Amino acid sequence: MARGYKYFEAIEKHAGKLGIFTAIMVSLGGLAEITPLFVEAHSITASDGTKPYDALRLAGKDIYVREGCYTCHTQMIRSLRAETQRYGAYSIASESVYDRPHQWGSKRTGPDLARVGGKYSDEWQRLHLTDPRAVVAASNMPAYPWLAETKVDSDDIVARMRTLRRLGDPYTDADIAGAPAALEGKTEMDALVAYLQGLGVHAAPAEGTP
Ligand code: HEC
Repeated sequence: MARGYKYFEAIEKHAGKLGIFTAIMVSLGGLAEITPLFVEAHSITASDGTKPYDALRLAGKDIYVREGCYTCHTQMIRSLRAETQRYGAYSIASESVYDRPHQWGSKRTGPDLARVGGKYSDEWQRLHLTDPRAVVAASNMPAYPWLAETKVDSDDIVARMRTLRRLGDPYTDADIAGAPAALEGKTEMDALVAYLQGLGVHAAPAEGTP
């Protein structure tokens, strides 16, 4: 009988010990997988054309989060043929550097929106958000008619952009100073549509990526 067998036996015949050692080994494996990703996340820089959100789109992004659009829509195209054929080039990490928090999502009741920018006209987007069934008869998306009647809250836009700059987003003083004026008179619908129309248009990788 091989040397060391008694150690195996001591562990394998004792459910508690086996559980503890299994947990230790699984944790080590997990750390080996996860740690490099954390380190790498800090070294990812914006891909060509990816810009920080201007004031109106930033406000639109907040409305997207507030209304819970991410509960039905992902913004993460996987590198599978069925996905790229339907939604376009697959998502890459460097497109999301200015998304805090990212809107990758995990549930698709509706389609992925990572590259929806420019797919429809502004008018279509407004109509769809006000009354989805008016443009897509079988849609089960909720209607958001109040967005067109509510003015964008611009109280904290300067503070929000300053905070994002502190986190690394390259806003200039002029971008920040001009933010309240950019939101002047805009409705929440204007902001959300501007956000949607910007999704994926700057950073789409070259055509033909698998
Ligand atoms: C309960 C789930 C649900 C929620 C919440 C939801 N949607 Fe949708 N959405 C859908 C479904 C289903 C479709 C596909 C049918 C349609 O086009 O209406 C869709 C379609 C869309 C489309 C068209 C996509 C395409 O490529 O044709 C856009 C844009 C969109 N939604 C934006 C939004 C926004 C913005 C919000 C938040 C204000 C939102 N959705 C909230 C379910 C949802």
